[in-house]
Amino acid sequence: MNANADNSSSTGDVGRRNIVTLQSHILEEQLRQPHATGMFSWILSALSISAKMIAASVRRARLEDVLGSVGGHNVQGEQQQKLDVIANDILLRNLGNRQGVAIVASEENEEPVILRAQNDGETRYCVMFDPLDGSSNLDVCGAVGTIFSILRKDRRSARVEDSLLQPGSQQVAAGYVLYGPSTVLVLTIGSGVHMFVLDPSIGAFVRVAENLRIPQRSKSYSLNEGNRLSFPQGYQDYLHWAQQNGYSSRYAGAMVADVHRILLKGGVFMYPPTAKAPKGKLRLMYEANPMGFIIEQAGGKALTGPGARILDVQPIDIHQRTTVILGSSDEVDHVVARL
Ligand code: AHG
Ligand code: MN
Ligand code: MN
Repeated sequence: MNANADNSSSTGDVGRRNIVTLQSHILEEQLRQPHATGMFSWILSALSISAKMIAASVRRARLEDVLGSVGGHNVQGEQQQKLDVIANDILLRNLGNRQGVAIVASEENEEPVILRAQNDGETRYCVMFDPLDGSSNLDVCGAVGTIFSILRKDRRSARVEDSLLQPGSQQVAAGYVLYGPSTVLVLTIGSGVHMFVLDPSIGAFVRVAENLRIPQRSKSYSLNEGNRLSFPQGYQDYLHWAQQNGYSSRYAGAMVADVHRILLKGGVFMYPPTAKAPKGKLRLMYEANPMGFIIEQAGGKALTGPGARILDVQPIDIHQRTTVILGSSDEVDHVVARL
């Protein structure tokens, strides 16, 4: 029997079963903003198209022999994978023709790319991204992702580049795409966190969850325990306590995959200072800030240390690194209580 017919007397049920694509979700949000011009929606659509193209490249990488490194290093001094470069190019080409984008900053480009320098009121946004997160997982068919953050251009800044250096609390939107067994896009525009799954048969992201809330507690931690001996003492004390209290350890080595699990199941994700990376390894502008925004919007906490929100950090460099402690609010508290 047709389930719809069965429920035809209940408009509430029919409403819940409606199909909402990412495109219609964005239009719904746009209609709620009386002064919206649609510029912002165009930018999100460029990110969505990029995600579909990157997903296709990731799936075909082994077949098309584009795994492995290009031989060069990115601005972080890390080996660039061929797919880092391909994903970066896809994002730049899709965002390049969106009139609303003034400037783009990527993990893979040392300098930001100025697309439109004029102060004409039309070019309103800055977009920052990590085109492929966890790219060293590619060779072993592990999960990888894309992370993005959108800021409004600060018209008072003399140079368009200066607009990028705003704290994460100023983000107007942030999201990530996880290329796993399915392609999942998680988005916040500052009013809750919503999740979409790519239906490859129709080529559209379909909304599968609205207003996600991170569980307040869960006995699970996620960090590279191989670095344990070089963590500051407080982190080592936390691990000792967690292991005595029945915690599980889960670590994919790709922030998108690890944070996605924590968003849905709870726990705490950390990248503490280490001997190799004394300020932490993760990048503030296109890893910690967007993930911090999402986690806070879902009711969790995102800190650099005790009492210090990631989103309050005033950046001084687009590629700067930060310590990260984020996830379920009780679990973040258990860590910072020992620092
Ligand atoms: P990227 O591939 O964009 O350079 O990011 C890798 C990051 C992040 O995704 C992950 O959480 C972390 O590096 C893993 O680092 P370790 O291998 O040091 O654990
Ligand atoms: Mn990354
Ligand atoms: Mn990356």
